[in-house]
Amino acid sequence: MSDVVSVRKDGEVAVVTIDNPPVNALGHAVRSGVYEAMAGLRDDADVKAVVLACAGRTFSAGADITEFGKPPQPPALFELINAVEDMPKPVVAAMHGTALGGGFELALGCHYRVADSKARVGLPEVKLGLLPGAGGTQRLPRLIGPEEALKIIVSGDFVGADKALKLGIVDEVTDGDVNEAALELARRLAADGTGPVRLSDRDDKLQAVKADDTAFNETAGKLTARARGLEAPHACVEAVRWSFELPFEEGLTKEREKFMELVAGDQSKAQRHIFFAEREASKVSDMPKGTTPREVKTVGVIGAGTMGGGISMNFANVGIPVTIVETSQEALDRGFATIEKNYRISVSRGRMSEEELKVRMSRLTGTTDMSDLADADFIIEAVFEEMDIKKDIFGKLDAIAKPGAVLASNTSYLDIDEIAAATNRPGSVLGTHFFSPANVMRLMEIVRGEKTDFDVLATAIDLGRKIRKVPVVVGVCFGFVGNRMLKARQLQTEQLLLEGATPQQVDKAITDFGFPMGPFAMGDLAGLDIGWRIRKHVGADAEGGRAEIADALCEMGRFGQKTGRGFYIYEKGARGGTPDPEVEALIVETAKRFGIERREIGSEEIVERLIYPMISEGAKILEEGIAQRSGDIDVVWIYGYGFPIWRGGPMFYADQVGLAHIRDRLDFYAEQTGNDALRPAPLLQKLADEGAGFASLAGKKVRAA
Ligand code: 3HC
Repeated sequence: MSDVVSVRKDGEVAVVTIDNPPVNALGHAVRSGVYEAMAGLRDDADVKAVVLACAGRTFSAGADITEFGKPPQPPALFELINAVEDMPKPVVAAMHGTALGGGFELALGCHYRVADSKARVGLPEVKLGLLPGAGGTQRLPRLIGPEEALKIIVSGDFVGADKALKLGIVDEVTDGDVNEAALELARRLAADGTGPVRLSDRDDKLQAVKADDTAFNETAGKLTARARGLEAPHACVEAVRWSFELPFEEGLTKEREKFMELVAGDQSKAQRHIFFAEREASKVSDMPKGTTPREVKTVGVIGAGTMGGGISMNFANVGIPVTIVETSQEALDRGFATIEKNYRISVSRGRMSEEELKVRMSRLTGTTDMSDLADADFIIEAVFEEMDIKKDIFGKLDAIAKPGAVLASNTSYLDIDEIAAATNRPGSVLGTHFFSPANVMRLMEIVRGEKTDFDVLATAIDLGRKIRKVPVVVGVCFGFVGNRMLKARQLQTEQLLLEGATPQQVDKAITDFGFPMGPFAMGDLAGLDIGWRIRKHVGADAEGGRAEIADALCEMGRFGQKTGRGFYIYEKGARGGTPDPEVEALIVETAKRFGIERREIGSEEIVERLIYPMISEGAKILEEGIAQRSGDIDVVWIYGYGFPIWRGGPMFYADQVGLAHIRDRLDFYAEQTGNDALRPAPLLQKLADEGAGFASLAGKKVRAA
């Protein structure tokens, strides 16, 4: 028998178990193991029913993603599932953990499904730029109707056991041992002589949509409305439509063809890259094996402003109590009111109950006395970006916090080592940089200081995962990975205006590229005054460098959306802003003042001028060892700044475009503008000269020293 698939007999029932840790992915060995097992049981007269189960922490998480793009090895997953469905005796799937993608499709090929009450099922292929390619788009609609199937397939969201039971996805849910429950059902089926129920034979659930597909189309429209630029969600809709427009076999063939097309396409390659990069990003290459995180039962947050409030919500959401410190009761009240307002939005959208809101708010305690943090296990400072204030706070925290507490700063630019030096425990200090809105954005840059202890780093990573963030470990430099690269982009945005572009042209080029918002609309939303004040306070270097136009707008009281005017005009009730001739006049006048002759600038130049300098900065970040891998940079940009996931992040995108092209264009723009800062970084230059890409650095030490 195979190493990863075993068969045991229990009376008239055979139990086939997949044991392929960690997630029972359906790689070649598993597929052939199950195929052979089923072939053997098919003609075994002593066996009247079969249970298909998985060992370890979960049912199968689907196809082995690492096999995609390699030559296929038979049996293909869809062939295996067809063979299971064709079994002449009933096959019962016993699902625990998460039955996902091909794993769930395998369960749909079984004739009955039993789930443990904590189990979840789902078809998350869409998140990998794919559609379910082993019958999921054809069998699930036959089980629960095309509209419900569409919701699951296009969203890629998981469905809990209770809902799965209600929808008819599973036949039974058990609080006890799922394998026992499945065995019990199989015994009953064997005793009753009940045969297989094949989804491919069913079409009762398809009749209503066949007669009238209006509701189906509406649901499809809603589900794909936010899928800008992505191919997979549309392919999923198309495939589910085949389930009621075509005979089963034909639908299956077309699904398969579409899957093969998507798997070979750039979007899926990019999304698969991010799947693995996301999991890599919190791995620290020199962390000793067995480093254990410190226990975190309570959290302290200093500052109840936009960031402090958002950060606190993350912990309240997962049941960790937070003590929030502010300088006055008034500031605390304001902060708490904002948090409650944010939760109320979820209540009004039906995503949270009033009771749950109360529970979450009850996990937050406000205080104006920092010494109330004496018991906190993990303390995050989220106050104004000024080194002196931060150092003062960390000095005080050092005296207050208990031994073993982790002291973190949410600074988005400043030197963590300097902050750590204000304490007598620099090993317990690091950065936890959240992104606004902090309760929504999934990125968490974990800034490792020179002296940060490994277990402190491990604690922050572990906590980040607990609050469902994507932790990326980065080194200390001004702006870390994300904001440092953003600055490279920002230096070009204003420059493009002076050279001839308009804010709306720049924003359109960037949203057409796939970002949810352009830089000027984004600036208006965040408030132009933030950068302006920092530039005035700390100097032009602090926030994206010189910004003549933004500063002039702020001098005019145009702070963005909140004042109704910024780079655009915002009419009451209107969505988004409209261009303002006054802003264009200001740009023209400023360009004249600097002696810049304005010209027509196309969208291709806008994209290259904004994205390529970021990539070059990313190369410097790699060279300096601020990021461990190019994939880490991609993860930062996707989860913190809305870089289109289907392009795989800036460094993956760079490899797709070709580094030689990027090198040449940067040299060209440096000549054109007389700005040597646009020249490609040495590492970018070197890789381009070698005909290599950033991906070629995987596993190598890039750091020059
Ligand atoms: N193939 C290969 N490796 C996989 C995998 C898969 N389907 N799913 C997870 N892994 C790997 C991860 O990369 C990770 O490896 P590492 O330890 O070396 O970093 C390891 O398994 C554990 O995964 P997680 O760290 O993600 O563990 P969690 O417990 O946090 O999450 C999970 C478990 C919910 C199953 C999550 O791993 C997941 O969502 N997996 C992907 C599920 C998926 O997308 N399935 C569809 C695959 S495509 C398909 O089936 C096509 C078919 O329709 C033809």
